[in-house]
Amino acid sequence: MIGCKVLVVDDEADMVETCRKILERKGLIVVAATESRAALEMIREQVFDLIVADLRMPGIDGLELLREAKKISPTTALIIITAYATIETALKAVREGAFDYIPKPFSMAQLEVAVERGLEHRRLVEENRRLERMLREEYDFSRIIGTTPQIAEVLNTVAKVVETDVNVLVSGESGTGKELIARSIHANSPRREHAFVPIDCASLPETLLESELFGNEKGAFTGAVAMRPGLIEHAQGGTLFLDEIGDLTPAVQVKLLRVLQERQFRRIGGRDLIDADVRVISATHRDLEDMVRQKLFREDLFYRLNVVTIVLPPLRSRADDIPLLAQHFLDEFRRKAKKNVEGVSSAATMLLRRYRWPGNVRELRNAIERAASLAAGNQITPLDLPDALLDSPEAGTPFSTETTFQGSKKQVIEEFEREYIERCLRQSRGNVSEAAAHAGLQRSAFHRLMKRYGISAAGFRSSTD
Ligand SMILES: Nc1ncnc2c1ncn2[C@@H]1O[C@H](COP(=O)(O)OP(=O)(O)OP(=O)(O)O)[C@@H](O)[C@H]1O
Ligand SMILES: [Mg+2]
Repeated sequence: MIGCKVLVVDDEADMVETCRKILERKGLIVVAATESRAALEMIREQVFDLIVADLRMPGIDGLELLREAKKISPTTALIIITAYATIETALKAVREGAFDYIPKPFSMAQLEVAVERGLEHRRLVEENRRLERMLREEYDFSRIIGTTPQIAEVLNTVAKVVETDVNVLVSGESGTGKELIARSIHANSPRREHAFVPIDCASLPETLLESELFGNEKGAFTGAVAMRPGLIEHAQGGTLFLDEIGDLTPAVQVKLLRVLQERQFRRIGGRDLIDADVRVISATHRDLEDMVRQKLFREDLFYRLNVVTIVLPPLRSRADDIPLLAQHFLDEFRRKAKKNVEGVSSAATMLLRRYRWPGNVRELRNAIERAASLAAGNQITPLDLPDALLDSPEAGTPFSTETTFQGSKKQVIEEFEREYIERCLRQSRGNVSEAAAHAGLQRSAFHRLMKRYGISAAGFRSSTD
């Protein structure tokens, strides 16, 4: 509370001086005004933690002053001083946002306590605002769409690592959002004011990758006509994003390991050690742990890179996010292309949900972009979707609009039955009796199911039989 700034407003100069003395003794900075017009001027020009104002003053009275002050500086605490006769009005002031009131005459202690509590209140309000700002601005994951538990878990881990400086490995199939997650971590981390530098380790041959990463001195190799700083230098203070880390050759793996261990490196052909103040986020669609087991990836580097792992789920495992993502991409394209496609028909939604999406979110995004430009009406229909979605064996009857619970359930059951029957037949190499026995069904019941789905046993007999 020491050093807090208080404004005292009262038309009686004696009163102002008494308050000033009491408050200055508590270590507060006191500014005084004997006129509310002058006080308002001051409130506009300086930030006060607290205002103590008399209720009854000529011209602008305490109540009006309070209203104006609230508008200018909403978190400043306000205390009203009042004679007994006007306590009704003082209560009104409290209802309008004054923090407290002190009846006249008051003791030194009364004023001190009220002021202390007012300042504490202001501190809490400010603290709350700060936290709110942090939640709203610093942790902005609004670009990451999804509400399934799988995505919630990812965001949970992301929220934990943004405040730290540990290296993160993001793994997941292609198109699952690895780069999006890496960028979100950077954008929400203390390094966000510095660069996010991505490098695709798969796209460059070894020597080029090395000079990209480390840079080179003039004359380091043929064609090195000038000194060129590498990407590690560009990422200084920020984040280096090593994409497709599983594609690093053993030689570059060793060099990278050294940078991570020593936090220093040399440009190619250089002698001076340069500090590497970078956070490394790496990504891979490979099973890096398996590569370590197979000695294709250095174990020591793996542990350096992988202090925290974030595994992104494939899109097909979180089908409930598909409609949401589809709408998100559609909104994006509508803004860009100014074409009035507003939604996805329920039949099309069903197809989107049932497809396996080997290219994950990226593939979905492309499909929606294409569909939006093809759509004739204001909805994406099955006709606008890529053939792969219509042809996919799981897709069944593409134009059915069965999205009701019963309808969907029936489809799932049918899919299951067909697959199950086929699996049994595969195992028995087309021997129906054996397949039925395996399934625990009568031969005739098994046969009926085969017939319903148009499955013939012949297709499962190998030609040598
Ligand atoms: N959860 C999500 N919410 C919104 N957009 C997403 C989400 N996940 C991925 N995307 C979008 O999908 C596209 C592919 O994402 P990204 O490039 O991050 O994937 P990736 O895993 O790095 O893919 P690749 O393995 O092909 O490099 C981008 O346009 C990205 O913005
Ligand atoms: Mg990527």
